[in-house]
Amino acid sequence: MNHPIEHRDNELYIESVSAAEIAKEFGTPTYIYSKALIEKAFLSYQNILASHQSLICYAVKANSNLAILDILARLGAGFDIVSEGELKRVLTAGGDPKKIVFSGVGKKPSEMNCALKSDIYCFNVESEAELTMLNEVSKKIGKTASVSIRVNPDVNPTTHPYIATGMRKNKFGVPKNEVIKLYELASRLPNISIQGIDCHIGSQLVDLNPLIESIHQLLELIDVLQVKGITLEHINLGGGLGIIYRNEKPPSIADYVSSILNELDGQNIKLIIEPGRSIVGNAGILITEVQYLKTTSHRNFAIVDAAMNDMLRPALYDAWLEILPVRLDRRNKTKAKTWDIVGPVCESGDFLGHQRDLSIKQNDLLAILGAGAYGFSMSSNYNSRGRAAEVLVDSNNVHLARNRESFSDLILGENLLPKKENS
Ligand code: LLP
Repeated sequence: MNHPIEHRDNELYIESVSAAEIAKEFGTPTYIYSKALIEKAFLSYQNILASHQSLICYAVKANSNLAILDILARLGAGFDIVSEGELKRVLTAGGDPKKIVFSGVGKKPSEMNCALKSDIYCFNVESEAELTMLNEVSKKIGKTASVSIRVNPDVNPTTHPYIATGMRKNKFGVPKNEVIKLYELASRLPNISIQGIDCHIGSQLVDLNPLIESIHQLLELIDVLQVKGITLEHINLGGGLGIIYRNEKPPSIADYVSSILNELDGQNIKLIIEPGRSIVGNAGILITEVQYLKTTSHRNFAIVDAAMNDMLRPALYDAWLEILPVRLDRRNKTKAKTWDIVGPVCESGDFLGHQRDLSIKQNDLLAILGAGAYGFSMSSNYNSRGRAAEVLVDSNNVHLARNRESFSDLILGENLLPKKENS
């Protein structure tokens, strides 16, 4: 079978629909997602985990479009959320609250309240202060909160420093030497019920050793807790599996899960994972139109209509994303040059790619690959730019998953000063 995102006859296709057709109908910049690729990635997790008690909680922050949550909810996914907004998105998309885990270092009492009332499965607690607050909020509304404590195993996940989360200098999790004490406190709190143990060491992980090292630490903690009479029902290892953007060599989903299951061999404990990027990352592209070409003695700039507000990863992490022409010029009518692909935003950090060899001319369409995760979900209205449209392709069906933002969307909720009297 053809790959769902590929050039056929020199034209870029998403499943059975050409990217150029989508650009014509919906304009640019536009995110396009392949339903088949999202399902394929999720099913890879589901299949390999079928033999083990488990829950796959898709990390909503990677891409929170309702249509995508809907696809995953229908496949039986759980969800990892980090805010009330994400909770409400999941519920709106038909996600099962009993399969929701709530992560994050700064859950507000109002968010805890909302999640408790929705009867979510578990809170991943990150500090003593949060645990005692959760107990108080639960008590007020007569609920019991199920918790797992997020451990900071102090391992180096060897990824970009901004997305490494399991080192002791990071704000995340509880230092391992304080974990047992916190469980003992949790066991004494009347409105807390201990469910599991949790960690998430970082994102875009390619090397599994730091994760394996973390699993060992968690298993040791589970043993110590067991001796103290605290039995856990699950171990949550977070998300983080990397994808191929350029020449990275992450393990496949099956190998990643098999390595985890190997470590858990003989343990009668439910496994939770929270994958985000590996489910949607390579299922999405961002298409953009070349507005102007500007060649100088020093650099060639292709100014496109997508910018850092649409796709922040290059600006924020210096991330490398593949950029390809939507229509390949096989006959080399346009000579290839080395281009900096930049957006219209007034910052020199506004780039999508540097020094790319491409044959392009004005009004050509380009596709930015690997844009399905942390693309739209990190986009903003900077420079008062309406956010891009999002389109989901399912075979030859095209579904507008989110309208392009209009000016009225942009100013929604803003208020002019009251009019002066007599003026
Ligand atoms: N669980 C927790 C607690 C997380 O913090 C994250 C991601 C995930 C799961 C999902 O990780 P994934 O499977 O997607 O790697 N904006 C960055 C990535 C930030 C990741 C934050 N946490 C980027 O564009 O690379």
